[in-house]
Amino acid sequence: MEIDVLSPIDGSLLGSVKKMFKEDVDNIYVKSRNSFKLWKDLSTAKRSEYMYKASEILEKNKEKIADIMSKEISKPYKDSMIEVERTVGLIKYSAEEGMRIFGEVIEGKNYDDSSKTKVAIVKREPVGVVLAISPFNYPINLAASKIVPALISGNTVVFKPASQGVLSGIELVKCFEEAGLPEGVLQVVTGKGSEIGDYLNTHKEIDFINFTGSTPIGERIGMQAKMKPILLELGGKDAAIVLEDADLDKASKDIVSGAFSYSGQRCTAIKRVLVIDKIADELILKIKEKVSKLRVGNPFDDVEITPLIDEKSAIFVEELINDAISKGAIALTEIKREKNLIYPLLLDKVTEDMDIAWVEPFGPVLPIIRVKTEEEALEIANKSEYGLQSSIFTNNIDKAFKFANNLEVGTVHINNKTQRGPDNFPFLGIKNSGAGVQGIRHSILSMTKIKTIVIDM
Ligand code: NAP
Ligand code: G3H
Repeated sequence: MEIDVLSPIDGSLLGSVKKMFKEDVDNIYVKSRNSFKLWKDLSTAKRSEYMYKASEILEKNKEKIADIMSKEISKPYKDSMIEVERTVGLIKYSAEEGMRIFGEVIEGKNYDDSSKTKVAIVKREPVGVVLAISPFNYPINLAASKIVPALISGNTVVFKPASQGVLSGIELVKCFEEAGLPEGVLQVVTGKGSEIGDYLNTHKEIDFINFTGSTPIGERIGMQAKMKPILLELGGKDAAIVLEDADLDKASKDIVSGAFSYSGQRCTAIKRVLVIDKIADELILKIKEKVSKLRVGNPFDDVEITPLIDEKSAIFVEELINDAISKGAIALTEIKREKNLIYPLLLDKVTEDMDIAWVEPFGPVLPIIRVKTEEEALEIANKSEYGLQSSIFTNNIDKAFKFANNLEVGTVHINNKTQRGPDNFPFLGIKNSGAGVQGIRHSILSMTKIKTIVIDM
C-alpha cells in the first residue's frame, strides 16, 4: 500500500512511499538491533569516514535535493539550498566531534582515605537503537542533526521522517547508502505518525527517542517512553523584547526576518514582540515598512512568503487572527488568505486576552504587545508555557544581561533574531519547549551512556 505525497504549492503528485505496518516496523527494529553489534565495534575513525563520504554525496546532489525539498514543503528554493549546505557542514563537524568524545579516569584518592586505591574508568558507550523522528519544516537538517550524532557514536538509527518531508528525508538516507553504510545501520520508516507512531515509540527494541515536532506529540512520546531516555525539541513562542534605547533599524530588520522567513514555520521564529510603549510607534512603522516589502508567491521565485504546509494550518492561523481582531487587535497590513497561502500580517495592540498572545501560529503573523515597563516585558515573556528562545534588543549591556539571566528560555540572543544555528551550539527548550539538549556535541553526549569500570590498585 502506498501513500501519495502532494506538493503544498499546487497539489501536484510528487511521489509515493510505502505505508508501513507493524510487521515492517518489527523487521526494521530487529535489523537495527542486529547491525548495532557490528556498528558499535567499528572505530570512530571508520564511522567518521562513512559520514564524510555521505556529506560529499549530499553536497554533490544539493541542487536536486533542494528542488525536491522546495516542492515538498514549499520552502523558498534559496532557503532549501541553505538547509542542504548547512547540513553538509553539520555532518562534517559531527564526524570530527565524534572523535573528540572521550571518557575519563576518576581517582578515589580525591574523595577519602578508604577509597584511595580505587580508580574508576568512565567510558562513553552508544545507547543502542535510536528512534529519530523529524518534523516537516527542516526535513534534511533536523533529520541529520539526530541521525549523524547518533551514528558517529556507534548507535544504529530507525528514522521516521514527517509525512510531508518524507521524500527529502529519503534523499538524505540515500546519501548514506551510497556512502556504503552497512545494511541495517540507518533505516527509514514510512507511514503516518498518527497511525504507526505509537507502535514505533513503544517498541521493545528502542533504546532512545530523539524527537523534534509539536508539543502535544512530544508530551505523548514522553509518557510512552517511560524509563527510556529521550530528547525532545518542541514548540515555541519566542519573544523579541525591544527596550527604549535599542537600535530600531537593526531591531526591525531582525524582527521581520526572524518572524517571517519560511512564512513563520520555524520553531525559533519570533512569534511576539514586546515593546516599550514610548518607542512602539517608531518601531512598528519600521517593521511595517519592511513587512510590506515581503514578496509572496511560489517558492521557486524570489520570495519570502510561500504557501503553508497545508490548508488546515492556514485555517488555524486565520482563526487566531480573527480571534485577535474580534478582541481589538489592529491589523497593520491586509488580512488575506488564499487556500493555504497567508499574506504576511502585522498585528498591533495585541493584549493578553487574545489567543495569539500565547499560541504558536506557525504562520506569517506577528503580534505586537505594547508594555509600559521593562518589568512588564519580562513578566509577559516568562508567562508563556514555552521556553525555547528570546531576543533582547538594547544598547545597555547591563540590561541585556539582566534580561538574559532572567528570561525562562534555553537561549537568549542579544541584539539579534532568535535562531538555532550554528549547529555546534547547544540548542534546547525548557518548560513545554522540550527536554534534553541538542547541538552536535550535546546530541552525541545525549545519545551515549556512561559505563564505569572500577579497579582497586
Ligand atoms: P508534528 O505534527 O508534531 O510532527 C512531527 C513528527 O512526529 C512527524 O514526523 C510526525 O509524523 C510524527 N508523529 C506524529 N504523531 C506521532 C506519534 N504519535 N508518534 C510518533 N511520531 C509522531 O510537528 P510538525 O507539524 O511536523 O512540526 C511543527 C512543530 O514542530 C511546531 O510546533 C514547531 O515549533 C515544532 N518544531 C520544533 C523544533 C525545535 O527544535 N524546538 C524544530 C522544528 C519544529 P507525520 O508527519 O507522519 O504525522
Ligand atoms: O523549526 C525549528 C528549527 O529548529 C529552527 O531552526 O532557527 O535555524 O531556522 P532555525
